[in-house]
Amino acid sequence: MKLWRGGRLATLAGERGWGLIDDGALLVGDDGLLHWVGPSAEAPPADEVVELHGALVTPGLVDCHTHLVYGGNRAQEFEQRLHGASYADIARAGGGIRSTVAATRAASEAELLASATRRAQALMREGVTTLEVKSGYGLDAGTEARMLRVARQLRGVDVRTTYLGAHALPPEFSDADAYIDAVCAWLPALHAEGLVDAVDAFCENIAFSPAQVARVFEAAGRLGLAVKLHAEQLSDQGGAALAARHGALSCDHLEFLSSAGIQAMAQAGSVAVLLPGAFYALRETRLPPVQALRDAGVPIAIATDHNPGSSPTLSPLLMLNMACVLFRLTPEEAWRGITVHGARALGLRDRGQLVAGQRADFCLWDGAHPRELAACFGHNPLIERVCQGGT
Ligand code: NIG
Ligand code: FE
Repeated sequence: MKLWRGGRLATLAGERGWGLIDDGALLVGDDGLLHWVGPSAEAPPADEVVELHGALVTPGLVDCHTHLVYGGNRAQEFEQRLHGASYADIARAGGGIRSTVAATRAASEAELLASATRRAQALMREGVTTLEVKSGYGLDAGTEARMLRVARQLRGVDVRTTYLGAHALPPEFSDADAYIDAVCAWLPALHAEGLVDAVDAFCENIAFSPAQVARVFEAAGRLGLAVKLHAEQLSDQGGAALAARHGALSCDHLEFLSSAGIQAMAQAGSVAVLLPGAFYALRETRLPPVQALRDAGVPIAIATDHNPGSSPTLSPLLMLNMACVLFRLTPEEAWRGITVHGARALGLRDRGQLVAGQRADFCLWDGAHPRELAACFGHNPLIERVCQGGT
């Protein structure tokens, strides 16, 4: 047993509040779990003691929505948008996701792993201990599998993989329904290889219809796999309500979410994953309905949505700040969003709070209170990141 003592703990225990313990300690077992959390003065004996010297201690960050594995970049489209093209214009002209698909198909597994490793390391340097990675830039059986295998090879962080075959229509298909048949047909083999923790889709007028998404969800359901959805990002398609009917872990983006969608999510217990990086980069003006989500008791998570097009950020700390400044989340909501609620969006109940029995995933920061990290931006005060008890 190892005791970390003398820290300012923000445990986020319970349903609300920071759960502050001014001079606090954590007892970590060889099993990588927290065995005890409380005031240093009451700490049980341990084989090894680490002094925290007043460092701020929070749960490790959970980045529950990323597209981390891909080839190439899309800085050229960033430039095109500054010359007046919209994200949707570029997508309809065959750019956007499809241009990343071409670059990803052309990349070897080793190349994809090397670039994804560098990106994962950047996230880890800002405190990420759990990371979700989606496929969706292969759009053929072989490349989708390659992306998911690469994600599973990332080290130093706990990775969850999500199959996003229904991300865009690949160039070799002209019929979206025929492509959805293929997406459903590829899933059992990917699942049998142990590559899929959840199934996602992009429900949008530039992507797939609710009826097409429903077919993907039925295929997931036949294998007992959980679902989530890119929903209501650019228009209201009723995607969130559909996902909720399938017991979705989360619905993500949600700028155009309706009150019917909110009610459906509340009933299903789905998490609302808000993605301020994409909102910012696409200069969206329609805000997600944060107050209505609060009123309905829908848990709110935030994530980087790292991808080369709509959210090329590798800074979860910047997302904390943007969630507050752009979406008016309170600092505590933003913190819960990137810890305990992020974990819940992945179906994980064993992390996200500094509570006995949870995984010993935590961060040490140079600061006195977690709201300081939400208030500042472009600054990384991480001292140390501890994943499952080891650093
Ligand atoms: O979450 N909305 C769809 N998918 C990604 C963007 C993917 C891309 O532009 O490459 C997102 O924003
Ligand atoms: Fe996304």
